Amino acid sequence: MKRMKMYWLAVCLMLACAEASKILVVFPLPSRSHANLGDGIVKLLLNAGHEVTYISPFPYKNAPPTLRTIDVSKNFEIMPMDIMNIKTIMNTSKFLHSIAFKMYMAINMMRHTLQLEGVNKLVADPKEEFDLVIAEWMFTEIPAGFASVFDCPLIWLSSVEVHWMILQLVDQPTNPAYTVDLMSTYAPPLSFWQRANELWTQVTIKFLQYVWLDGVQERTFNELIHPLILKRGRKPPTFDESRYNASLLLSNAYISTASPVALPQNHKFIGGYHIDEEVKPMSAELKKLMDNAKHGVVYFSMGSNLKSKDMPEELKKSLLQMFGTLKQTVLWKFEEKMDNLPSNVHILDWAPQQAILSHPNLAVFVTHGGLLSTTESVHFGIPIIGIPVFADQFLNVVKAVNKGFAQRVDLSYTMADELKEAIIEVTSNKRYAEKAKELSFIHHDRPVKPGVELVHWVNHVINTRGAPHLRSPALHVPFYQKMYLDLAAVLVILFLAGRVLLKKICAAVRSKKESGSQKKNN
Ligand SMILES: *[C@@H]1O[C@H](CO)[C@@H](O)[C@H](O)[C@H]1NC(C)=O
Ligand SMILES: *[C@@H]1O[C@H](CO)[C@@H](O)[C@H](O)[C@H]1NC(C)=O
Repeated sequence: MKRMKMYWLAVCLMLACAEASKILVVFPLPSRSHANLGDGIVKLLLNAGHEVTYISPFPYKNAPPTLRTIDVSKNFEIMPMDIMNIKTIMNTSKFLHSIAFKMYMAINMMRHTLQLEGVNKLVADPKEEFDLVIAEWMFTEIPAGFASVFDCPLIWLSSVEVHWMILQLVDQPTNPAYTVDLMSTYAPPLSFWQRANELWTQVTIKFLQYVWLDGVQERTFNELIHPLILKRGRKPPTFDESRYNASLLLSNAYISTASPVALPQNHKFIGGYHIDEEVKPMSAELKKLMDNAKHGVVYFSMGSNLKSKDMPEELKKSLLQMFGTLKQTVLWKFEEKMDNLPSNVHILDWAPQQAILSHPNLAVFVTHGGLLSTTESVHFGIPIIGIPVFADQFLNVVKAVNKGFAQRVDLSYTMADELKEAIIEVTSNKRYAEKAKELSFIHHDRPVKPGVELVHWVNHVINTRGAPHLRSPALHVPFYQKMYLDLAAVLVILFLAGRVLLKKICAAVRSKKESGSQKKNN
């Protein structure tokens, strides 16, 4: 009995010390990998004693009392499903992958999200209050509206390594001469044409935003956010006032794989925070399989969004046949049963990925190169073979190849032979595994764990009411001032005026001289 009382006292003390804040976490994208990042943040915040409201398309099972979830699974209905189908991607429709389409989709998705019943109820209720909003940036800044509605600080989360589009929200875009766009397939150092190409990408996207997409966003913001703020009795901010108002930018990356460029003070690396300190054990059956793999294990997974079952039949067959010729044990994450499996190939319809990556017999991870998978492979020090399919995966894989712990294979109907060569190269040449171990050391060699860092900065922003002291002065300096175009204009005017003046003086002197000599002659 006494013990019980002590226990409750300790719990109360802990809660009191942690100073629970109310935090709204906004991750409405209907995609498992993005939800994993959101879940990771929610878990850390709950452990730190905060009260969390979580907008997510994946309803939470057994939510603790300090977590309220707002289900936006209806967002699945407005995703063009084919966007994630391997077959469609292989027979590519270019437009689906263009940045303009992605931005337009993202704006549409946010519009839809704001109008869903649960979300609408939350934002329309003037009694709802928050101390902080954390929102994922995915091609739209409309989520900044949540912070404006609740009149509280905003933190952007970048699900990928920061890039110029998101940096311009807290500082300024990076220089395309040595940093690349998030959809780029180049990695610096850039050649002349690559450099020109990166500049062109920035200029065209800026142009599209200027003439089209910013207008769409602003109209949505004015239509859906303004009335909410008016209802709370405040004057609504402009869209720009709202979207350039973030206190912090957290990026799901770390210098072990990110590019070492200068970043603003309110940018913090937190890559790896979604990985649990203690890896959940795998099933006894799988463990036995991996323990007994004399020649090591090849683990093949195309992630949670791309379903292997959508793979073309001929590709499936040729891969299976090729895997059968390997001496290693092959674990293939695949969502359907397959017949005539070679004895060394095992199909897992669900894979405990982190447990597999932490097993000492794992030789190589064959992956689509999504950032979560590449981060996890660096965390556990495993070399990879990347088969990029979508979005930032190309860049992730190119960077991994350049870092020296990866090989790249292109998705195609006839990739089996190439994949086999890559597997043999990566498993027989020690340098890939050594490099992966070295990067893993860098990844873990930081003053505090990424989860601790995340919670620290979240608390810092709350306790300093938006951490204005971290904000970059560059935000308030217009482009022409940064480039000193005004000074250039002044110098040009001075130069021209000087020239005119000089000419006048010369002319005056000359005419004086001439009149003087005329006098003499007379
Ligand atoms: C994709 O292209 C291949 C050949 O290039 C063709 O055989 C196949 O029918 C196409 N599939 C779809 C879904 O368009
Ligand atoms: C800007 O951020 C501050 C705190 O950082 C917040 O109080 C304010 O409401 C925000 N303004 C807008 C327009 O979002």
